[in-house]
Amino acid sequence: MNILETKGLYHDFKGLEVLFDVNLEVKEKERHAIIGPNGAGKTTLFNVITGTYHPSRGLVFFKGKEVTGARPHKMARLGMGRSFQLTSTFSRLTAFQNIRLAVLSKKGIRFHLFNKVDKMQDITQETDEILKRINLDRERNLPAGMLSYGKHRALEISLALATDPDLVMLDEPTAGMSRDETHYAVELIRRLTEGKTAVIIEHDMDVVFSLADRITVLHYGQILATGPPGEIKENQAVKDAYLGELET
Ligand SMILES: Nc1ncnc2c1ncn2[C@@H]1O[C@H](COP(=O)(O)OP(=O)(O)O)[C@@H](O)[C@H]1O
Ligand SMILES: [Mg+2]
Repeated sequence: MNILETKGLYHDFKGLEVLFDVNLEVKEKERHAIIGPNGAGKTTLFNVITGTYHPSRGLVFFKGKEVTGARPHKMARLGMGRSFQLTSTFSRLTAFQNIRLAVLSKKGIRFHLFNKVDKMQDITQETDEILKRINLDRERNLPAGMLSYGKHRALEISLALATDPDLVMLDEPTAGMSRDETHYAVELIRRLTEGKTAVIIEHDMDVVFSLADRITVLHYGQILATGPPGEIKENQAVKDAYLGELET
């Protein structure tokens, strides 16, 4: 079953066509990578799917339901988590407070002084469990802005997954990371997305080929190919577009 589908999706920025008849199909419980050169429209596609933009044409289906243009908070409530290409943590809040916000927002609870104490204890416990799972329990009370770049990005990835979404969308989770940080992030993503559905925009081909069950190649706003890694590697149109870059 497809958990996510787009049908004939178009998007333009004041006449600049960025997405062109995009029919994306993401199967339940797969890790699906979206690759393509800079400016191909990958982030825009995420923004249309997650409701940041309304497409100029076409439809988005999530869990069999049409959700075209539904606002981001509604998509989150429906079970879609996402991380951003650029940092979206609150840098002055601690790791704990950042995760707690994600936990609270999924439950639709505003942080409130007068919330019942036992409810807050449950949330604290859940937050601490997440911190442990992502190896950030020692940095629990550090402001996110003081974490190392790699740990900060790890927190970021975890925020998207903190609420156990049915589908998580990660936009370039390893961007700007060192080799070691990338290795750590890939293992974290692998562990946190085990048995779940993830769509990952990724530029590092080693990461793509080690994580993805299927790959979609976006080129000038159009899907060039979709398939398992072995098939994508051998695809002539993809090879031509990347001028051999995929020969890893
Ligand atoms: N908010 C915007 N306004 C105008 N043009 C944009 C905007 N966002 C992206 N673009 C343009 O749309 C194209 C696709 O961008 P983007 O989706 O960010 O590509 P990718 O994530 O694949 O690098 C680029 O030409 C980019 O300059
Ligand atoms: Mg992008």
